Amino acid sequence: MAIIQTYPTPDELARAATELFVALAQESIRDHGHFSVALAGGSTPRAMYQNLATIEFAQQVNWERVHVFWSDERCVPPDSENSNYRMAQEAFLKVVAIPPENIHRIHGEAKPHQAAQSYAETLTQFFAPKPTRFDLILLGMGDDGHTASIFPGTPAVHEDERLVMAQYVEKLASWRVTFTPALINAAANVAFLISGEKKAYRLRQVIVGRYQPDELPAQIVRPTVGKLRWLLDEAAGIHLS
Ligand code: 6PG
Repeated sequence: MAIIQTYPTPDELARAATELFVALAQESIRDHGHFSVALAGGSTPRAMYQNLATIEFAQQVNWERVHVFWSDERCVPPDSENSNYRMAQEAFLKVVAIPPENIHRIHGEAKPHQAAQSYAETLTQFFAPKPTRFDLILLGMGDDGHTASIFPGTPAVHEDERLVMAQYVEKLASWRVTFTPALINAAANVAFLISGEKKAYRLRQVIVGRYQPDELPAQIVRPTVGKLRWLLDEAAGIHLS
């Protein structure tokens, strides 16, 4: 089941995403004692993460029970300006009272395949003996229709066994580590945060166009039993009725 929610401005989109994070955190902690969330990379989620660091929102979350992961990472050191870990660390993780051991970053400084393998082990151990099922996975979408680091025409689009994989991205001439469709679609909640008119045409193709995940990898996100939300600002949703 997919829900599309559109907000007038990027700030209102960020606020709505922050409210969703807080609501799902409270619900998950009440239900099973912790909240497992995978953060999206890129620039769109930054405003949402900064909101989480404000008193208004930070005080609503029992950070001791929150476990933070990443749905993808660039293969760079954690202090690199391109690191998704560094972006989140600076936006809110260094501010909120989350125990350091609850922050599970992908080791972008390691060899890509080793980083992917060890992250998959981290996930399996964290969720054991239950299946690896996140309470929330946050995702962005590129204007080429990629999501996480699942880019058009790459093997990751069809990976339905492994949970995490290393992916060389030709167009970026760089390695990434990414969640796979198998892991994303096992989540209880998946939320896309998409902002800006630059993505509007591609977003329409993804949501209402023909199913062609090799060209539009974001289409592989179809949670098996979980809830899918598309959180958009008006500019990104301009081509959706
Ligand atoms: C990354 C992200 C990637 C991102 C999209 C959108 O590591 O870059 O995981 O999938 O979400 O490229 O990026 P923007 O939010 O910067 O547009």
